[in-house]
Amino acid sequence: MGVQNSDPMIELKRMAAEEAAAMVQDGMAVGLGSGSTSAMMIDALGRRWAEGLRFVAIPTSEHSAEQARAHGITLVTFATHPQLDMAIDGADEVERGSLNLVKGLGGALFREKIVASAAKRFIIVVDESKLVDHLGSRVAVPVEVTSFGWESTARQLGELGARVSQRMDRNGGLFVTDGGNMILDCAFGPIADPPQLAADIRAIVGVIESGLFIRRTSEVIVAGRSGLTRLVA
Ligand code: 5RP
Repeated sequence: MGVQNSDPMIELKRMAAEEAAAMVQDGMAVGLGSGSTSAMMIDALGRRWAEGLRFVAIPTSEHSAEQARAHGITLVTFATHPQLDMAIDGADEVERGSLNLVKGLGGALFREKIVASAAKRFIIVVDESKLVDHLGSRVAVPVEVTSFGWESTARQLGELGARVSQRMDRNGGLFVTDGGNMILDCAFGPIADPPQLAADIRAIVGVIESGLFIRRTSEVIVAGRSGLTRLVA
């Protein structure tokens, strides 16, 4: 179990993930993100669990659920915990200043957004390469859509200015989310007005959610070559 690597940046990212895990206190309800950084954070929480820390968690993907279960961490649902004290997750891009995000390169964006919206504090852990002046500069915006009518949804996303491609899995098949839906990766290039674009995407019938996370971030822990820094919203 765990993510092993001797790359110095990976080690810094692990430190950032541990710093985020250190924010979890006894009795909290915590959202567990998805992706490689979140995996480090879940391992760090697993070590704290083994030392006696007790909390409950809601995972954002089947993969994170499996990893948390392997550590013995107690998983709950929104039925008993409709509000979370904190959610900790990674991101694909963080916009300097606004701390708005692009998420979902791992395909878990819909559950991640539900968990983020249920959390009093949303903590993001990234390495410095994820910081951008404008969202959309480095990555396409993932959009989770229903498979019924996806071609029409894709056309309308294209009308918003995106180059749209269907997400495929590692075996060349269609990528299917944990919710059974498709992902359309929408390359917009640098986005001038992310809140407006997020609203425009959301208004298209067939769209479940986009990977634009607007005004949700509480704090970003950044692993950089000169150490860890914290950006606060
Ligand atoms: C998954 C996500 C991840 O948080 C995001 O892709 C970052 O992943 P990593 O930590 O592996 O760079 O949004 O849906």
